[in-house]
Amino acid sequence: MALTAFVLAAGEGTRMKSSHPKTVHRMLGRPLVAWPVLAAREAGADRVVVVTGAGAAEVNAVVEELGCDIVEQAERLGTGHATRLAVEAAGIADGVVVVLYGDSPLLRAETIRRLADQVEERHLAAALLTMEPPDPTGYGRIVFDDAGNVAAIVEHRDATPDQRERLTVCNPGVYAFDAAVLARLIGRIDNDNAQGEYYLTDMVALLRREGLPVAAVPVEDDLETLGVNSRAQLAEATKVMQRRINGRLMAEGVTMLDPDLVWVGPDAEVGRDTELWPMTYLLGATIVGEACVIGPNTRLTNVVCGDRCTLDETVASFSELESDVTCGPRTYLRPGTVIKAGAHVGTSVEIKNSTIGEGSKVPHLSYIGDTDMGAGVNVGAASVTCNYDGYAKHRTTIGDNVFIGSDTMMVAPVAIGNGAVTGAASCITQDVPEDALALERSRQRNLEGYAKRRRERLEREHAGTD
Ligand code: UD1
Ligand code: CA
Repeated sequence: MALTAFVLAAGEGTRMKSSHPKTVHRMLGRPLVAWPVLAAREAGADRVVVVTGAGAAEVNAVVEELGCDIVEQAERLGTGHATRLAVEAAGIADGVVVVLYGDSPLLRAETIRRLADQVEERHLAAALLTMEPPDPTGYGRIVFDDAGNVAAIVEHRDATPDQRERLTVCNPGVYAFDAAVLARLIGRIDNDNAQGEYYLTDMVALLRREGLPVAAVPVEDDLETLGVNSRAQLAEATKVMQRRINGRLMAEGVTMLDPDLVWVGPDAEVGRDTELWPMTYLLGATIVGEACVIGPNTRLTNVVCGDRCTLDETVASFSELESDVTCGPRTYLRPGTVIKAGAHVGTSVEIKNSTIGEGSKVPHLSYIGDTDMGAGVNVGAASVTCNYDGYAKHRTTIGDNVFIGSDTMMVAPVAIGNGAVTGAASCITQDVPEDALALERSRQRNLEGYAKRRRERLEREHAGTD
């Protein structure tokens, strides 16, 4: 049966104290609104409609990229109004509709599925998730009938003191509806309440009046329904997701010295027997292979890395590392870097938009940019490709088995042939033929005894002075 998801995300999120709408703030690298969208997809939703309002341009950009339909709610007249706009825009006639919030990133796909299954399998008009938080202040309270079905939801603000105390089961704001019933009744919600808003929660009473039962589905883990309204709650939600992801990775065979100090994004993958040391961040579409040692102090964003790699204090983005590569300590790999199998990039080395060939080594204090480097190359300490002339970038080509002497400057565009050697401290401005030695430095003079004579002279001059 067709499953459609509505994600309500028109709120401003004033408590975030931000220049950006709440739902574009990121949790482990993924915007808040993308979490329920992707959870709904995982639960089987073939269509996701997002209701945007405050800061719509920014939210729309995020959800458009995810292939969602967008409905703009110009005036924020309540959750019932937002849902009505989505119903009208979606024009859905059958199947099940789940309604989620754009600021609740911890809800699991299984929970959404469980709720939708209730409606589908038991042919119900609606099912709603319920929870019993330690402090129910602020939440809509659920009123049950004698049969245990949901009779109504009373908003905290509209509840009597007695109801506030007695009704402890709360509404986290996650619902599944029979689409046809929702479409038929959503227009009947009014705004006769404490806030003058159209409450989606009033659907429950409307359904009851029609004699249609509404099921309550208790959430398994209260943390799933945590909403993000402030920076403190964003940190709290991040912690919950960090524990969830790291727990899964450890169960799959990843070692973490301290899982509280490792942050793995939702799209990252890590192979078994890999160790993640403290202060490691694996963000975006990062894939780390098996038996690697990553960290400490390492941040990989959109990096693909093979097996048995060691990345020590490495910051890398949009780069590809084959197997048996070692980096660091203190390596910086910028976009477009490819490091072939068994290569080594060492201390205080920066590489950008370059290929480092199989087994090649760039061990100390170098900058390699816009370079195609062959296999078996050794780059001596402090060698630099001068790829930028102030106006344009130029490429450097280094063949196989080249030996770059320490402190070689390679002024691009320039090509160094297979098997060539450059003398230390040479500034290479012309192509070097295969197997040649390129030497660009003045000849050394040794003045015999000069240092001794100088020392004796200075000692005489300074004798007696302090
Ligand atoms: C709502 C529920 C309440 C529940 C609580 C859980 C109603 C009337 N009440 O209250 O029972 O306990 O959530 O958090 O639904 N939104 C729109 N457009 C609007 C209004 C809201 O898109 O016009 C979105 C917001 O961006 C937010 C979500 O809907 O993501 C919830 O809105 P909010 O105003 O926070 O609802 P609550 O008053 O907290
Ligand atoms: Ca809320």
